[in-house]
Amino acid sequence: MKIHVVNHYQDMSVKAAELVAEQVKDKNDSVLGLATGSTPEGMYSRLVKMHQEEDLDFSAIRTFNLDEYLGLGPDHPQSYHFYMHQHLFHHINILQKNINIPDGKAIDAETACRDYEESIVNEGGIDFQVLGIGGNGHIGFNEPDTSLSAVTHVVELTEKTVKDNSRFFDSEEEVPRKALTMGMGPILKAKKILLLASGEGKSEAIRATVSGKITTQVPATFLQLHPKVILILDKEAAKLI
Ligand code: PGA
Repeated sequence: MKIHVVNHYQDMSVKAAELVAEQVKDKNDSVLGLATGSTPEGMYSRLVKMHQEEDLDFSAIRTFNLDEYLGLGPDHPQSYHFYMHQHLFHHINILQKNINIPDGKAIDAETACRDYEESIVNEGGIDFQVLGIGGNGHIGFNEPDTSLSAVTHVVELTEKTVKDNSRFFDSEEEVPRKALTMGMGPILKAKKILLLASGEGKSEAIRATVSGKITTQVPATFLQLHPKVILILDKEAAKLI
């Protein structure tokens, strides 16, 4: 693991955007794995700026998002479809047909998961995966459990995740209890992985990710098995390593 510790959230965002831009320039039809949440917002805003001011070109880029809440359609302001369009896709020259996000409104969610997995394989797998991390060590919505699923699947969110994410909703009751998530397989098969973390609330999960025992109870510890992982952390997130 390559670890960069920077002073603040803003520095993390700038450095992360630089790495994504490098990938986009090196391979203009890269398959990017993308994350949502508050952590990558600054990175997306920087990438939008790079597109607007430096012509960073996304016209051949293909994307697969990590996850989506089950039950939320693309127009729901807390859906990850909505988030991605608001923070990135509306502002860059990516083609709609190259955007992939699990369908939260799928009538048959299990089949939708299988199709999603197949599309990732058909596109040749992920070149560059961006990850946030949950305070409980989840990546995507691969939650701590006695086992982890390799493939894209429907998952029950833990109480901690529901609580953590309730800040985006009017009340905790409104947070969906289930989600569709890319499994550990496509994430760990990505050619490069970039994990971002900011704030003290992530420090214990980061300690475990860097030096803890590999365990399904902290899914991010599996990143220790991957040969090309870069962590960009602010000082608070890095305080226990
Ligand atoms: P956050 O979420 O960026 O909103 O902290 C990260 C995650 O849960 O993966």
